[in-house]
Order: sequence, then structure tokens, then C-alpha cells
Amino acid sequence: MSSAISTTSLSALFQVIKARFLQGTRTRPQRVKFFAFLSLVLLLLKYPNRAIGTRARPDLKAISWKGAPLIGNTITVLKNRNKFLQALVEGFESVEGNTMATTILGLGQIIAINDNILLEHILKTNFENYEKGFIINSLLSQVLGNGIFNSDGTLWKMHRKTASHVFSTKIYRSLIEGTFTDHSHHLCTVLERAADSGVAVDLQALFLRMTLDAFAQLSFGLDINSLGKDGRDPFGTAFDFAVVSTDERFMNPLWRITERLTSRASQMRKAVAVIDSYAFEAIRRRRGETTEEALIRQGPAGPQALSWMYYEVMVNPAVEKNLWQEVDHLDEKATYEMLTKDMRYTHAVFQEALRLYPPVPRNLKTAVADDVLPNGIQVKAGDRIMFSTYAIGRNKEVWGPQAPEFLPERWFEGTTAEVEKGDLKNSTFDEPHVWPKVRKESQYKFSSFNAGPRICLGQTFATLEALTVIKMVSSRFQLVLVPGQAPPEPVPSLTLPMKNPLLVNVVRRK
Ligand code: HEM
Repeated sequence: MSSAISTTSLSALFQVIKARFLQGTRTRPQRVKFFAFLSLVLLLLKYPNRAIGTRARPDLKAISWKGAPLIGNTITVLKNRNKFLQALVEGFESVEGNTMATTILGLGQIIAINDNILLEHILKTNFENYEKGFIINSLLSQVLGNGIFNSDGTLWKMHRKTASHVFSTKIYRSLIEGTFTDHSHHLCTVLERAADSGVAVDLQALFLRMTLDAFAQLSFGLDINSLGKDGRDPFGTAFDFAVVSTDERFMNPLWRITERLTSRASQMRKAVAVIDSYAFEAIRRRRGETTEEALIRQGPAGPQALSWMYYEVMVNPAVEKNLWQEVDHLDEKATYEMLTKDMRYTHAVFQEALRLYPPVPRNLKTAVADDVLPNGIQVKAGDRIMFSTYAIGRNKEVWGPQAPEFLPERWFEGTTAEVEKGDLKNSTFDEPHVWPKVRKESQYKFSSFNAGPRICLGQTFATLEALTVIKMVSSRFQLVLVPGQAPPEPVPSLTLPMKNPLLVNVVRRK
């Protein structure tokens, strides 16, 4: 509509205004009011269905959500903020193709993409053209500074090069035999007490505390022992607050103003000061800054993945039975070889949880220059590309008709035909079973660890840590959901925490 306003019609409008209002006896306040009114009318004509500051994009008409004058889709997104991920999945199911376009105040033109081909283009083929950019930087820099997660270009390359030396097979071997086993063991003693006392525990909180303890020891050399305490650790509380508040900034274009008007800004400063006090300790002890940054950004990822995974195991008895069979036949001591070769079913269960519940559920990139996506959609410099690994993981075009179901079998070599037909079933065996090898899936399809040059550097670390925990916990305990709980729901956050505690009763198996 705005492009329909021609120069002739604007000048005709101006003539009418001049004749009617600017000549004659109008007073100054009346003129001010009139100009304000006129500006509003002109803005409404220019932005009839999109956010202020965005360009008219007839090329995106077929994939654009209907927007309101001046604010575009800002209110719709704010209204759905508590169920943003589910709304996104449903949104994509209701449109043709895997792209949707919206405009949001403060963020501008957003193109959301939802398949592996489009994702590969953004994360690899034209990688240099899609940056984290200024918006992400300004939202995250208070907590993360300008480290690897929050930088682009040469600075990011430098961080990446330094950080990639931290991870090696030698390190993994010593972590499995040391930190991972020690902290899993500590968790098992807490579970033993719960089994003896019959008091239910919040599994999500326990996994988070265990990981916090492990990270604090690895990055800061500190023994914070949050597993041994009943209340929250100050670091954990500050950390959760900073993550949730940063995420709220993504959904609130006016965050700079609203945070100042409420106590949020000062609470955030306090939380960052607590996190910094640990970070300074880390630097003082001359440990790697990237590990400390990874704790802040990725700390909750592993525990969240384990919480969602155990929820699925508890509600799928066939999966639980297979998992037990596998862990029951392993030697007592966890080793690198065991975790990488003999835990195929457990590995498939963990990856299936990451597919349906990716701990970094969405991401935003900014286009540096104009581009065309593989499906012909035009991208202009400054457009933002949004992708959600949560929505891609549930897309039936990508993962087959049974995409929403929890089926670890889909990960085994030789199951592609069943996956495509939608014929997968949970199979159980009475005798110990040797499962096929776990298929190495395309990074762009299984994108829970990101993909391309910026793929997660901690993928092996996180997987080996999770397998150590699962081996030790599942060979000794059965976790049983406390009856009467609603199915867990994700909280809108940068990561994917469960909204409510995951209450379980612990029963000894042996
Ligand atoms: C299940 C656990 C984990 C998941 C699902 C995960 C996922 C991801 C994702 C999606 C990204 C891209 C983030 C972005 O673009 O902002 C990422 C980046 C990264 N992850 Fe992880 N992560 C996990 C655990 C870890 C751990 C334990 C570490 C370190 C020990 C780690 C280190 C990193 C680093 C350094 C990057 C930045 C890579 C770059 O930008 O070049 N991650 N991870």
C-alpha cells in the first residue's frame, strides 16, 4: 500500500492541507497539534502493515505474516512469548515452504527459516555474509563481553583458534576418569539418600548443580559443592537471572528503557558482578577464558538435555528397558573406549533428546549484504535470519512423519527407509542386544550443536559427560516421575529450561 503513494497524490494532499490549515487564522498550538497528527498519518501511510524503520518488501509478500501499522508483528510475538517455540512450530506447519517473514520493532525485518538446506546456506555456504551482528552483541555483551560466542570476523577467528586447542582426546580421557566420574559419583550419593529417605528430588536442579560444580572446578579450580547444599548457590542464582533477563531483551525492543524504569537494570548489574567475581578468580588463576565463558553460555545446556532425556525415558518404558540392558553389561569403570564404542543405544537416546529439546533452541543472524536463499527468497543487507533448532528438529519434511515422536531407533545405521515411511517402532530385546552403529547425521539436519565453521566446540565434551552420568545413574537407580505432574514445558529463555521442577522418586535397582 505504501508504495502506492505517488508523488502526485502526496503533492495534492499537501495542497489541500495548505489551503485548509496553513492559511488563515489558526493559532500556534493548533498548528503543532496538526503537524503531529499529520506526521502520524504519514507514518501510517508509509508503514501500514510493518514496523517503523523497515522497508516495504513486496518480494516477501507471499511469506509475510499479517502485520499491524507501525509495529508490524511486535505484539503477536510479545503475546506468544511464553509459548514462542511451540507457536513457531505451529506457524511453520500452517504455511507452505519453510520460510516466514515478520517485522519487529527494534529488530527490523526478520526472515525465519526452517529446514536443513536453508540452514546450510546461512551457516556454511554463505557463512561470511551472516554475522551475529550489533543486535546480538548489544544484548549479550553485558554478560559475555566480546568473547567467542559474541564476536564475528577476525576477532571470532582468533578466539576460535585459541579455544579449539583446549579440546583433545587426551583431555577427554582424563575428564572421564576424573571430573566426570567424580561428579557423577557425588550425584549418585545424593540419589542414594533420596532413595533411602523416600523424599522426591528435582532432577533438573540436581543435574544443573552437578554441572555447575564440575565447571567451577574445571574453570576456576573452585570447590563450590552446590550438590551438597539444599539452597541455591549464589553463582547459580546470579547466572539464571542473567540468562533469563538477557533472553527477555530479545523479546522486548524497549528493554533499555523498561529495565531502567524497573529494578531490572540494577538487579542485572548485581548478577553480572557476582558472575564477574568468579570470572576474575578464573583469570587470576590463569585458566582459559573460553572455558569460563562456555560455562556462562553453555553451562545449562548439558543438564537441560539430561533432564528432558530422563523425562522421555520415564514415560517410555521400552526405552528405559533397552537403556538398562545396555548399561548393565558395561564394566564398572567408565572409559573413553566404553563411552565411544559400547554405548550405542544410550548415545542414540541422548541425541534423540537433543533433537526434540535442543538446549540452544533458536538463533539470530544479520545479513551483511544482499543475498538470495536456495528457495529464491531475497535477503537484503541488514535483514535478520532467525532459525530455531527446536522447530527444525520437529519438522516432518526434515525428520519424517514421526518427527514429533521420541524414537532413538532413528539414529541407527540402516533405518533410513523406516524413518522416511514413518514405520519406526521402539524395539525391545530380552537378551543383550548389539545395536547398529549410530549414524553420523548431517550437521544441518541435526543442528542442536550448531553447524558449519561455528559448530559447538564442546560437542564431544558434552556427549561424553552425559554418557558418564547416564551410565552411573541408570545402572544403579530407577527414576520414577512423581504422579500428578503436568508434562514439562520449556520456559522462554536463551536455553531450554523446564518451567517447573522435574520431581522424581528414586528407587535403587541393585
Ligand atoms: C548439550 C550441550 C551443548 C549444546 C547443545 C551446545 C550447543 C551449542 C550451540 C547451538 C552453539 C552455537 C551458539 C551460538 O551461535 O550462539 C554452541 C557454541 C559453542 N559451544 Fe556448545 N553446546 C553444548 C555444550 C558445550 C560445552 C560443554 C562447551 C564447552 C566445554 C561448549 C562450547 C561451545 C563453544 C566454545 C561455542 C562457540 C563456538 C563458536 O562460536 O565458534 N558447548 N554450542
